Amino acid sequence: MHMRFTRLMTAAALLAGLLGTTAAANGDEIDGHRIYEDNCAGCHDGGRGPQRGSDDWTQRLEAGQQTLYTHAIEGIGGMPARGGNKSLSDDEVKAAVDDLVAPTKDK
Ligand code: HEC
Repeated sequence: MHMRFTRLMTAAALLAGLLGTTAAANGDEIDGHRIYEDNCAGCHDGGRGPQRGSDDWTQRLEAGQQTLYTHAIEGIGGMPARGGNKSLSDDEVKAAVDDLVAPTKDK
């Protein structure tokens, strides 16, 4: 009886550990949409460059997500590197790209 309780507690502790890890990961999760709104929407929802949710992305997406990431990070043509915000990490820029192209991908 006592053994069984101990096993149960061990399982519960393991589960809590797993859940704890997930919660921590969520806490650190990058909010791509917020980053997009703060740094990218001015152009991509404001008439400059390919517009969010439009077919402007159909052809660009064919180049692959990695190419879009690279161009967003390094800049291309009228697209400033990191949308002009040098403090954004690569992962933050990538999350904003994901958010930007999501409505076109979902069409
Ligand atoms: C000052 C306006 C401006 C801002 C701010 C801006 N962009 Fe752009 N973006 C452009 C323009 C213009 C293009 C088209 C560039 C070209 O293909 O010549 C573009 C193109 C892109 C592309 C397509 C690249 C490709 O390979 O076709 C991606 C992805 C992108 N922007 C992501 C972002 C993200 C993410 C942000 C915010 C972090 C952002 N942009 C902020 C103007 C902007």
